[in-house]
Amino acid sequence: MPSFEPFQLQTARMTLRFVDSGDADALFRLFSDPVALRYWSSAPWLHAAQAADNIEQTLKGYQDGSALRLAMVLPDGELIGTVTLYAFDRRNHRCEIGYMLAQPHWGKRYMQEALAALIAHGFGPLELHRIEADIHPDNIASGRILEGLHFQREGLLRERWFVGGEISDSLIYGLLRSDWIAATGITPEH
Ligand SMILES: CC(C)(COP(=O)(O)OP(=O)(O)OC[C@H]1O[C@@H](n2cnc3c(N)ncnc32)[C@H](O)[C@@H]1OP(=O)(O)O)[C@@H](O)C(=O)NCCC(=O)NCCS
Repeated sequence: MPSFEPFQLQTARMTLRFVDSGDADALFRLFSDPVALRYWSSAPWLHAAQAADNIEQTLKGYQDGSALRLAMVLPDGELIGTVTLYAFDRRNHRCEIGYMLAQPHWGKRYMQEALAALIAHGFGPLELHRIEADIHPDNIASGRILEGLHFQREGLLRERWFVGGEISDSLIYGLLRSDWIAATGITPEH
């Protein structure tokens, strides 16, 4: 698959940019927070080395075109979260979306802003037809964010994740390029 070459997306309050090796401390703070990771698909990080491994995976994703992860950065340089398009199925023009925002920044609509920019990029230059999300059924804020971005709830998959000794279902959401155009009135350019 073609690799992702570095670029940035600008939103009203943030720059979305490629992750790099200097982000290890910020990513560790994000992914070691048990509250933020409550509904995540893996357990909170315990060791700094997990941040380095994660960055290595992220760089590999850019290189082999399997995942596009962008850091959400405020004007003062603070990294407050990440948004990711992954599990690309190029033939069918679809992928999944994932996101993580640092707890001190919850409730300020940063994630809605970042995801809207990433989705527009997906339906534009990446030529996606469909974006999917898989969330924990108890993650109310995540579901509300997806619905606010015009995703439709499409189904429930039972007992799909084992995390920290707990098994959980997945709520599946989907967003079509045509839904996005109809809702926003904007046709993203390829
Ligand atoms: C999920 C996440 C991105 C949400 O961001 P946030 O800034 O906390 O979201 P908000 O506070 O804007 O809440 C989103 C919406 O849900 C609503 N909401 C939040 N908690 C709620 C609750 N317990 N009950 C009902 N509504 C709730 C908010 O009122 C808001 O509604 P609105 O869009 O109509 O204003 C953020 O909490 C996060 O990164 N969590 C950790 C990682 C994660 O769970 N990622 C998703 C995995 S798929």
